[in-house]
Amino acid sequence: MTNKKYLKNKIDILSPSPKHVAIIMDGNRRWAKKRGKLHITGHQEGMKSAKRAIFFAKNYHLDVLTLYAFSSENWNRSNKEVSSIMNLFTKTLDKEIYNLHQKNIKLKIIGDTSKFKIKLQNSINRSEKLTYNNCGLMLNIAVNYGGRWDIIQSVKKIAKKVKDGFLQPEQINENIFYQYICMNELAPVDLVIRTGGEYRISNFLLWQIAYSELFFTDVLWPDFNDTIFENAIHVFLKRKRKFGSSTIS
Ligand code: FPP
Repeated sequence: MTNKKYLKNKIDILSPSPKHVAIIMDGNRRWAKKRGKLHITGHQEGMKSAKRAIFFAKNYHLDVLTLYAFSSENWNRSNKEVSSIMNLFTKTLDKEIYNLHQKNIKLKIIGDTSKFKIKLQNSINRSEKLTYNNCGLMLNIAVNYGGRWDIIQSVKKIAKKVKDGFLQPEQINENIFYQYICMNELAPVDLVIRTGGEYRISNFLLWQIAYSELFFTDVLWPDFNDTIFENAIHVFLKRKRKFGSSTIS
């Protein structure tokens, strides 16, 4: 589908379009199992699906796409699976970053990257630097990320400000807290999509999705495509967002 049609759809619907979509990509291993294939094949197909979603988001003119690629809890998987996922990340990042850069996409990794092998940390640093000044789609990839970790890292920074005398405890409020949480400089998350048939957040963004709309689909992540992405946005456009007030926007 062309950009022109996307824009036409937006105008026809006459509702505010989502600026920031976040996706919990779930179901790679079940996808592989159903086909009698190894987990890694599911992850490789999941990577292709992520690439499709990124280009859809770019063509749809979303401001921000945030993908949950690896949670703090995913370290509990077998060493073999974790190491093949990490190799896949490193190889794909090194291969695709020039393509992303050429499409004016800015990449940011959110999460605690200090646990990764130096090779992956270097690839991440290089990629973020290369795309830093790009102003097209903002692409966040959450790796070794957890919503609770995010809140704790923010609290630690605020506690240090208080300890060093730059902040009084009574000054702490939502705005102050927000300054330290991941993605504070970006549009708020409008829509969270989760694939794979589970109806939960699984320690993804917590603070940031207080007023996000949620869309769940049974489709396994490798089968996620433009039609499902577009349908999720159409469902979002029909929702009445109230942000806690009785006023309907
Ligand atoms: C989710 O399915 C997959 C993961 C948690 C790991 C890796 C994710 C990818 C390869 C997707 C693309 C990544 C990037 C960096 C854009 P699952 O393994 O939890 O599947 P299951 O629910 O069937 O067990």
